[in-house]
Amino acid sequence: MKIIVLGGDGFCGWPTSLKLAGAGHQVTIVDNLSRRGIDLALSSGSLTEIASVHDRIAAARQHVGDVCHENTDIAKDHAALRDLIAGVMPDAVIQFAEQRAAPYSMIGDSERRYTVDNNITGTHNLCSALVDIKPDTHLVHLGTMGVYGYSREFGKIPEGYLDIEIKSTRQDTQILYPANPGSIYHMTKCLDQLLFQFYNKNWGLRVTDLHQGIVWGVETDETRLDPRLINRFDYDGVFGTVLNRFISQAVNDVPLTVYGTGGQSRAFIHIADSARCLQLAVENPPEPGERPRIFNQVSEVRSVRNLADMLADQWGAGIRYVTNPRKELPENELEVENAGLQSLGFKPTLLNNRLIEDVRFIADATRKNFNADNVLSSPRW
Ligand SMILES: NC(=O)c1ccc[n+]([C@@H]2O[C@H](COP(=O)([O-])OP(=O)(O)OC[C@H]3O[C@@H](n4cnc5c(N)ncnc54)[C@H](O)[C@@H]3O)[C@@H](O)[C@H]2O)c1
Repeated sequence: MKIIVLGGDGFCGWPTSLKLAGAGHQVTIVDNLSRRGIDLALSSGSLTEIASVHDRIAAARQHVGDVCHENTDIAKDHAALRDLIAGVMPDAVIQFAEQRAAPYSMIGDSERRYTVDNNITGTHNLCSALVDIKPDTHLVHLGTMGVYGYSREFGKIPEGYLDIEIKSTRQDTQILYPANPGSIYHMTKCLDQLLFQFYNKNWGLRVTDLHQGIVWGVETDETRLDPRLINRFDYDGVFGTVLNRFISQAVNDVPLTVYGTGGQSRAFIHIADSARCLQLAVENPPEPGERPRIFNQVSEVRSVRNLADMLADQWGAGIRYVTNPRKELPENELEVENAGLQSLGFKPTLLNNRLIEDVRFIADATRKNFNADNVLSSPRW
């Protein structure tokens, strides 16, 4: 298949691009490298030293398969995006190219506006270009479990649509699960869902929206093939996801900083599982005419406290409970449906010591890049 991967230089996009190229697909990465720019602006950056995009592509072509890169801003340059789509005529486009950190989106006015402008305009430019140029393309978008909010108010969280009975008519129907974002970033993912519903209803655009859990881990089989292929590893309070943050703290003898009581339950997925799920979604498109297909891309649910206790037991790490910078329920129960991707062949990898040891190994090897001041850098909201 010919696949365009928007945001393919990022934490999820890079290993996914390699996985798809390794499976024999022709991959065009489109990335404006804005994330590398944000690293410099925030003085945060990856613990691993990631190669330039030029070196990454050279190594990928040498060891993995057919990958190239185009430097285009899909939000600001819709004409270039349209030319690209017309040039490649892709079977599928994967949309990772959004500002992806809730804390970043809550820093202040310019970050709020950037997140909305970048995410909504980029995704809308893509939908609009596809229906004109190649309307049968399968659009695969990365959403987040955060669109649902984190409660059991409506029971187990379904895959996008909620079964309801309308009181006045006693009719059973399904509606899009009520959006309940916790940050500007999450709000953009809720708005993306409405774009997909409309483009699907009016033009029949084929969409898979993957509501992904919190991704942890660093490496996949493909990123291990050459040092130039190594993935990024964020550990700071703005872009670092919780388990990777904890592992980097444990390795550097810094107490794990748990927000609030740590009673927040969240859905998690390892980076290798994430890339595998993307492959399954792309290779098994929805039928023409099907409504936007929504899958929960998660492997398991854990509480933040449980993760911290696990690492503390295993490595004797200390734990420090700090005031939660986020506005969120201090404690919650969570149950999530994930049968859709499993029906396509996904076998979730549960948190295990070998995988955690892999991350620990990388964190240990990159200790010199660790800056303890970066870990508690989250803004308050
Ligand atoms: N990392 C996670 O834990 C996680 C969890 C759930 C969902 N997601 C979603 O997955 C997607 C990818 O996340 P990630 O962790 O890889 O983020 P990332 O920041 O590492 O990667 C995003 C990439 O998109 C590029 N990009 C951003 N705006 C662009 C634009 N306008 N034009 C071209 N390129 C642009 C960036 O340069 C970056 O390389 C995001 O949409 C995110 O919301 C991530």
